[in-house]
Amino acid sequence: MKTKTALNPTIFVIFGGTGDLNKRKLAPALYNLFIEGYMPDKFAVIGTGRTEFTDDSYKVALEDAVNQFSRSGKVKKDKWDNFASTMHYCPTDFAQPKTFENLKAAVEKYQKEYGSGTQVIFYLAVAPNFFPIIAECLQKYKLTQDEDNSRIVIEKPFGHDLESAKELNTLLSTIFTEKQIYRIDHYLGKETVQNMMAFRFANALFEPLWNRSYIDHVQISVTEQLGVGDRGGYYEGSGALRDMIQNHLLQLLCLVGMEAPINFDADEIRNRKVEVLRAMRPFSAEDIRFHTVRGQYSKGWVEGKEVPGYRQEKGVDAHSNTETFAAVKFHIDNWRWQGIPFYLRTGKRLNQTSSLITIQFRDVPHQIFSSGVTENWQQNRLVISIQPEMSIRMQVQAKRPGLDMVLNPVDMVFDYKGTYEGDTPEAYETLLLDAMMGDQTLFMRGDQVEAAWELVMPILNTWESKKSINFPNYPADSWGPEEAEALIARDGFHWFNLPLKNKD
Ligand code: BG6
Repeated sequence: MKTKTALNPTIFVIFGGTGDLNKRKLAPALYNLFIEGYMPDKFAVIGTGRTEFTDDSYKVALEDAVNQFSRSGKVKKDKWDNFASTMHYCPTDFAQPKTFENLKAAVEKYQKEYGSGTQVIFYLAVAPNFFPIIAECLQKYKLTQDEDNSRIVIEKPFGHDLESAKELNTLLSTIFTEKQIYRIDHYLGKETVQNMMAFRFANALFEPLWNRSYIDHVQISVTEQLGVGDRGGYYEGSGALRDMIQNHLLQLLCLVGMEAPINFDADEIRNRKVEVLRAMRPFSAEDIRFHTVRGQYSKGWVEGKEVPGYRQEKGVDAHSNTETFAAVKFHIDNWRWQGIPFYLRTGKRLNQTSSLITIQFRDVPHQIFSSGVTENWQQNRLVISIQPEMSIRMQVQAKRPGLDMVLNPVDMVFDYKGTYEGDTPEAYETLLLDAMMGDQTLFMRGDQVEAAWELVMPILNTWESKKSINFPNYPADSWGPEEAEALIARDGFHWFNLPLKNKD
């Protein structure tokens, strides 16, 4: 559990040091940790890549990036200079492992200077096909032998399917111990997602209701207005199920579905989460037919501008079968959740950007109010809005003021903006700090990743082998394919969106 503590000297080695992730997320996160006093007293950042840079030109490139992408705005010159004083660039080409010698020398220089206990964090912000070669080079050059002080952070996607995830886990386990491996799912670092644990387990109020006796269904919906943009090449080999559901949405589902851990220990929490995945009902061919929907966007208009369809995006096959939308109905087969559907939905080029978890409670056991009074009747709902709005709303019935007895659903709202001052940290700040602190709670364990792949593999295999006959099947700026509405309507429900209107 994090509190501001003195950290051991730390050397960050960033593979993909000239890449997009470093520019947009990692460098701004490290800088913000620095200005807020969370970086260790002694640290160094070594960026690696194939492009030629000097230390100075690298610092300038990252300063530009931080100016552009940091939540704290443009850097303050003196703070930046201080932060960047131990920043270096070390050209490294995985195709020529000999270049790792320079990297080793750079790391050892700081290890010597900072003394024993200096930790080295290797961050793999590169395409997944480079993970194995980098891991092997780190081993060959004996950079990872100190189990207590060397760690590897791996970006998603962790594997392309169950088999490749297993292969990667096996390879990593020959080089690192599990406690050295930090598999990123950046959703777990989001402030509102971390709050799920606090909300569920620091309040006595919810736990007695948090089960099949009081909840009638759960929705997890992560919708995006953006299309694939210039990531078409990557996305073609991925699709919405791999890109979002296998990781981010299933992690959210685990946080809703897990049993109470006995303490805040990383493995205790991860055990409770993996139990959820293991309890999930495997998909039969019939389930895939009736409980899953895929979609792909066609061109349309967004805010007065025409946007291309998925098949017209850069790097995308003109006859692509890749889904940009997925909706799936899951079940958790255990005592707590038996019979309660969990509907997950995600897609690109939808009508709204928002990540919502909605818990709908069962109706009252007996209605004492007449139909005129309950015209706007709505079962109680707990709506956890992860982004962009950060809030938790409890929707309850209340009497509308007036001489007539009329009921209306109202929101009891906990809104971050109205409650706290200042910015919330970005997910990557939390995750990088945790990696420095050696706290794996918000990182994926190998068995978790495999369990999630195992669950989605039957859907992926079916979708890959049976080409969709109606793609593209939803226009940009819509709520996705009609079949997704039908999937949930068959059970008598509908998808919830923000803003929540009465009787939405
Ligand atoms: C990434 C996916 O993991 O998450 C992207 O690869 C997606 O396709 C992104 O857009 C969403 O993250 P966020 O934090 O913007 O909700």
